[in-house]
Amino acid sequence: MDHFQYRDGRLHAEDVPLDTLAEAVGTPFYCYATATLERHFDAFAQAFEGQRALVAFAVKSNSNIAVIRTLGRRGAGAALVSGGELRRAREAGIPGARIVFSGVGKSRAELIAGLDAKILQFNVESEPELRLLSEIAAARGQRAPVALRVNPDVDAGVHHKITTGLKENKFGIEWTAAREIYARARDLPGIEIVGLSVHIGSQLLDLEPFRKAFLKIRDLVVMLRQDGHDIRHLDLGGGLGIPYDGGPSPAPAAYGALVKETVGDLDCLLVLEPGRMITGNAGVLVTRLLYRKEGATRTFYVVDAAMNDLMRPTLYDAYHHMVPVLEPPADGETLLVDVVGPICETGDTFGKQRALPAMAAGDLLVLRTAGAYGAVMSNTYNTRPGIPEVLVSGDQWKVVRRRLEVADLLALESLPDWLEADDEHP
Ligand code: LLP
Repeated sequence: MDHFQYRDGRLHAEDVPLDTLAEAVGTPFYCYATATLERHFDAFAQAFEGQRALVAFAVKSNSNIAVIRTLGRRGAGAALVSGGELRRAREAGIPGARIVFSGVGKSRAELIAGLDAKILQFNVESEPELRLLSEIAAARGQRAPVALRVNPDVDAGVHHKITTGLKENKFGIEWTAAREIYARARDLPGIEIVGLSVHIGSQLLDLEPFRKAFLKIRDLVVMLRQDGHDIRHLDLGGGLGIPYDGGPSPAPAAYGALVKETVGDLDCLLVLEPGRMITGNAGVLVTRLLYRKEGATRTFYVVDAAMNDLMRPTLYDAYHHMVPVLEPPADGETLLVDVVGPICETGDTFGKQRALPAMAAGDLLVLRTAGAYGAVMSNTYNTRPGIPEVLVSGDQWKVVRRRLEVADLLALESLPDWLEADDEHP
């Protein structure tokens, strides 16, 4: 149940009809359901009941401040990968003590911002980063709380662009070097080792790679404790997959049980970083058909959203289920169509040979499961201004990020002196 259901023949977000929203805010736009965000967060948190755990929402999946705040109110922390996300998390009211900060390339300024915010821990991904953090913290008379992110060399079995736990990936500290780097970290004046972290990939539909990774991590924690390190936080990253195509996907409860079984007796504060699992099905992208175009061999639905608004199909060949806003009659005509955006690239295709009802220009179409890695990855290619995000709660709704105008984009640019002249060329 994701709170995007047909009622009286129209697709609703909770109690709000999506065609009403489309009239009010224009298309395309993202729409999020508060009830789904809360339900998913609660289901995940409940899976860890009885275990000492911090559920730190992976802000990268959807960093709208209203979304972060919705989750923060239910007890979520924040898992960050940039100083910008730190600003958002703080703006949303997430306390520093519930924030963890990962990323292979944190800058000096970002490390300082993390120290200023007194975050729970830095997930440090290399020795040079460790040294820089130590230097900065020591100069301020502080010790930075650090978990080293190790790379367990486990294949998550997911798309190669979102697998992170293999030794050829850029993430984490190489497995075999971990023990030595922990030993050297102990001698750094600005570092306080508090734990260990791992993240093997995203959209895992099978729990086995997690089991493999967590068992390896478990052995490492035992070894590091024998070496005298006080490993008291264990950050297991995110990665739980969701059913984009309606197929089976792991239940949070099964994941919680797996965590308990593999690392539960280590008596660590567990940090979990779910992103997609919470936000994915809580969001849709609503778009309008511009043209129905008959090609030589295919019918195209040309819609007003494009790859710049939702990059996942272009980037990962990702599947997003599509449904019309007006419920089609059960015995209505179905066509096989390609759904494409207006951008001048063949890759600007949301779906090929999809069975959809016969639709006409002006009709509204919804791409489902677009709440994670949708708006956050959008850009302004082809000078297409960013689209709005709308948050629904019951029968209330609010634009939580406004639509950009072309003027907003142009205002960022300026002409150098040598090009300032007439407005038009002769
Ligand atoms: N923690 C870390 C350190 C991460 O790198 C990620 C995601 C997460 C947590 C959250 O993972 P999740 O629970 O959402 O799977 N743009 C891609 C996904 C990239 C994921 C990157 N890391 C996509 O649209 O599929």
